[in-house]
Amino acid sequence: MPADGDLGEAAALLRTGGLVAFPTETVYGLGANALDARATARIFEAKQRPSFDPLITHLADAADLEPLVGPVSPAVAALAARFWPGPLTLIVDRPEQIPPIVTSGLDSMAVRVPDQEHARRLIAAAGVPVAAPSANRFGQLSPTRAEHVVHGLGTAVDLVLDGGPSRCGIESTIVDARGERPVVLRLGALPVEELEKVTGPVTVRPGNSGQPVAPGTLAAHYAPRTPLRLVPGAELADAAGAGRGCLAFRDRPAGAWTAVEVLSAAGDLTEAAARLFDALHRLDAAGVVEIVAEPVPEMGVGRAVNDRLRRAAATWHPASGD
Ligand code: TXA
Ligand code: MG
Repeated sequence: MPADGDLGEAAALLRTGGLVAFPTETVYGLGANALDARATARIFEAKQRPSFDPLITHLADAADLEPLVGPVSPAVAALAARFWPGPLTLIVDRPEQIPPIVTSGLDSMAVRVPDQEHARRLIAAAGVPVAAPSANRFGQLSPTRAEHVVHGLGTAVDLVLDGGPSRCGIESTIVDARGERPVVLRLGALPVEELEKVTGPVTVRPGNSGQPVAPGTLAAHYAPRTPLRLVPGAELADAAGAGRGCLAFRDRPAGAWTAVEVLSAAGDLTEAAARLFDALHRLDAAGVVEIVAEPVPEMGVGRAVNDRLRRAAATWHPASGD
């Protein structure tokens, strides 16, 4: 856990244009001062991220939203009041103070308040909004531990705050609630069912549209280095073999695998989501030639888990993408 001194140093780095990786409840973020165009440009460099992929701006408190962006729609206000701090990103109009590089030139801006004590203390201490994508190279697995960040980004980051493993383990749900019917742009840690309790029915935008509005929704994304194949659970045993790694939901798969990861022996989707990227990082490091994964039940946060698995598979097997 970061000591107060580390938090103070990290906040000072943010204020002076530095890059700080920090824990959130979803995944680790790679933060820079969102008011500073040069600092945020360094995020794109460090991640090798295309400039058309906009960043999420993080605030310490829901009360900081309207002072930054002005009045928001009733639906946005209701969602922020209910789910912040938490794994929900809302789309609002970009205010003047936020340089266009943060939003890749869009007139809209993605914003959220993370539910992680160190993250909120860091942002509050920095005294500025913090632009932060997930702290991984573009297209690769998101980091859910400080060591994933160090391994993936190394010296491209000025400081990595260690807050232990991320509680949710999967990115925030992104919602555009500015129009009549809210649109989910990215499935994430906050289940659609929970959103709908506040907003009524939402539209889940088909993830594979290829539009550059939310590249986290590109078919090929969130990928391990090892090729990943998604097969129905009933066919898992047939896919076993030396040199193969298995990502199973609740039951240990039959067959001779070189490495096996079970996401939740209890069959709990929240636990499965929390362990997903960590398990993929481990399988990636196991030296297997292929990862074979089964989908989890398509409900609650399970929808976001399956979404990430389909995208990881699409990188290597375009024909089987969603
Ligand atoms: O849980 C999370 O959201 C994590 C933590 C660090 O907060 N962040 C994260 O950031 O996942 P990133 O950059 O990996 O994914 C952000 C997604 C991108 O796909 C981006 O295209 C989309 O948010 N996005 C950002 N601004 C947007 C906007 N104005 N309209 C639509 N999508 C936007
Ligand atoms: Mg990302």
